[in-house]
Amino acid sequence: MHNEKKCCEHYAKLIAKLETYEQYRKFAAYRDRILALSNDSLEKTIAIAVSLCLVCAVLVSMAAVALKPMQVDNKAFDMKKNILDVAGLLNADTDVPAAFAKQIEAKLVDMETGNYVDKLDVDTYDQRKAAKDPAQSIEIPKKKDIASIKRKAKIAKVYLVKEGDTIKSIILPVHGYGLWSTMYGFLALNADGQTVQSINFYDQAETPGLGGEVVNPHWRALWKDKKIYAESGDVALGLIKGNVDPTKADSAYKVDGLAGATLTSAGVTNLIRYWMSNEGFAPYLAKVRTGGKS
Ligand SMILES: Cc1cc2nc3c(=O)[nH]c(=O)nc-3n(C[C@H](O)[C@H](O)[C@H](O)COP(=O)(O)O)c2cc1C
Repeated sequence: MHNEKKCCEHYAKLIAKLETYEQYRKFAAYRDRILALSNDSLEKTIAIAVSLCLVCAVLVSMAAVALKPMQVDNKAFDMKKNILDVAGLLNADTDVPAAFAKQIEAKLVDMETGNYVDKLDVDTYDQRKAAKDPAQSIEIPKKKDIASIKRKAKIAKVYLVKEGDTIKSIILPVHGYGLWSTMYGFLALNADGQTVQSINFYDQAETPGLGGEVVNPHWRALWKDKKIYAESGDVALGLIKGNVDPTKADSAYKVDGLAGATLTSAGVTNLIRYWMSNEGFAPYLAKVRTGGKS
């Protein structure tokens, strides 16, 4: 019985080999026939073009698969660099992974309650992906969607810079539509949840020299020490057309608009207003201010 089974397996393998050989023989015959055709023949032109496409597709797919882990690493490295940058902890000689591990603490926040969440893995949680997943996000009603982002993740990933137990910076992810693109960035605040340390936009496709000036270090420097909430509690921070007059009472809440880019500037104001409101991080910031006792 055992020998019979072995014999069957052996023949099955042999037949498979023969079939493979037969297929190869047919392919070789077809290849020789095509190569023997005149270079001007339609059949040869199409066959060569199709073969070339197949070979290139295989090469590109192999490269994409082989490079994927490197791309993921580079993306993570870049994100750490952006976070260190907005926290004011990035110099030319900074060892990014080491500085990030030592000085930055990532936390997940429930957007509705403002409480920290620990049921998910903070290292692997991707807020941008979550915002696109109906199970992990909520649709923003049109009337409230001032940043034009349609959906928001139920859980946000924030970053803290701490010295011992004392919070030095709160780094919040923000995004909103400009003129041509959704602009993704980070806003760094003091522990008071009211004073801006810095802002940076790491992913946007506004016009270089116009809306693209959101990445200009001189413009970014104008945000330092600006205040977010007016005494009424409303979000007062935003861009104005032209330059801020420092003698005006509301100058602490205003930042120069981007020249020739009124629409991108409005987009930046809108995203700040959205993410700093009760729809965004206001519940979380209230908890940070009171040490989680509110
Ligand atoms: C090629 C081109 C690219 C533009 N890119 C932007 C842009 O990135 N952001 C922006 O707000 N306006 C951009 N604008 C200008 C807008 O169309 C619009 O005129 C401008 O926002 C109005 O600003 P202003 O009132 O300061 O002139 C662009 C215009 C052109 C012709």
